[in-house]
Amino acid sequence: MNGSLRSNDMQEVIEADRAHVWHHLFQHKAFETTDPRVFVEGKGMRLWDATGREFLDAVSGGVWTVNVGYGRASIADAVRDQLVKLNYFAGSAGSIPAALFSQRLIEKMPGMTRVYYSNSGSEANEKVFKMVRQIAHRHHGGRKSKILFRERDYHGTTLGTLAACGQPQRAEQYGPFPAGFVEVPHCLEYRSQFGKVDNYGEMAADAIEQVILREGPDTVGALCLEPITAGGGVITPPAGYWEKVQDICQRHSVLLHIDEVVCGVGRTGAWFGYQHYGIKPDFVTMAKGVASGYAAISCTTSTEEVFNLFKDDPADPMSFFRDISTFGGCVAGPAAALENMRIIEDENLLENARNMGMRLMDGLNALSERHAAIGEVRGKGLFCGAELVADRATREPADEKLVQAVVADCMAHGVIIGATNRSLPGYNNTLCLSPALIASADDIDRIVEAIDGALSRVF
Ligand SMILES: Cc1ncc(COP(=O)(O)O)c(C=O)c1O
Repeated sequence: MNGSLRSNDMQEVIEADRAHVWHHLFQHKAFETTDPRVFVEGKGMRLWDATGREFLDAVSGGVWTVNVGYGRASIADAVRDQLVKLNYFAGSAGSIPAALFSQRLIEKMPGMTRVYYSNSGSEANEKVFKMVRQIAHRHHGGRKSKILFRERDYHGTTLGTLAACGQPQRAEQYGPFPAGFVEVPHCLEYRSQFGKVDNYGEMAADAIEQVILREGPDTVGALCLEPITAGGGVITPPAGYWEKVQDICQRHSVLLHIDEVVCGVGRTGAWFGYQHYGIKPDFVTMAKGVASGYAAISCTTSTEEVFNLFKDDPADPMSFFRDISTFGGCVAGPAAALENMRIIEDENLLENARNMGMRLMDGLNALSERHAAIGEVRGKGLFCGAELVADRATREPADEKLVQAVVADCMAHGVIIGATNRSLPGYNNTLCLSPALIASADDIDRIVEAIDGALSRVF
């Protein structure tokens, strides 16, 4: 760690933080007896905090974001060069990085043609919701305005995206929410709603169709799904699920919106999570890994067919997508995203994510032979979860306090892991792992070792 701040200065930083910073998703009472953690430097997979302690980061910045790792000078240089040339103009005009990044991105997404820039995953998803509503008004006489979302999925923190939240603890106490959002059942076979069946994937997809039929297909505009549910428990879709979901959407003319805010840009070992399953979406949204946290950027992408619905009547002053995101015009985002994408390609990080992801899954599966607390291991690429249980036979979820104790024990041993958190009452019991796509075999082994030790000590 570079010692540019002396320890006295650092105490001042910590006191300023304690006095004034309102941390995200955090109960501040704890800071009356402990210091807030302040991170000061990162390099590759490693982080250093204000006390000089080193950590191995197995969650890419806490929330699966820093996909190419910390300390990438080439991204910082690309952003700096762009900022001194031109930092901003509103997105009603174009910029060189925005044009070039859209082209590079669309090359990776056969079937999609348009990119709408904004700043956060929530905002990218809100754009889709607004587009779906406007399509309903302009093309379906106000019908087809309902948006379906799935139990356990998360799409953001704004009131619109919380209306589409399948994680009750995220939404509770923040209502009332906008109307017209309807939940469909989850697809976690380990917690099957239908008992033990051979065709769980098809049944979970059929359950979506039942909701469409109940609501009336002429009222349903879109279905919004994560390709692999992230904070709801790292849920990889069951066999047969996506084929059927796609078919249901086509039969009922329901637009399919895939939320790739977590899975997008390499996390699962493909450019996009949906590409593992042969899905043809109408909208794809992405944020976290687009620029690996080096700049704030999110993208809402659509097909040309959707795009054309917004330019069919130039004589009507209300007929186009009347939305603006001020900072969607910041060129730092696409400048960082272009360099981020170059790094992923030149360093073969998709392949590394697949290989290291398999090593991580193997390691976790091996642990499950020794630790009865591991109920199920799930994942794809460098995106893995281990659901912890109190009893393997009954699958009773492990007590959330014990799950948090595992996370804390890993932290105490220098490895940062995550767990589903304030998401589903009684089911915040899945350890979450999303190391940067640069992770080495040694890094993966160290993460598995830390979890091994923590499970032994906690359970
Ligand atoms: C699947 C998914 N969608 C959307 C979001 C919201 O993104 P943001 O926090 O950038 O608004 C998140 C955040 O974790 C997410 O996991």
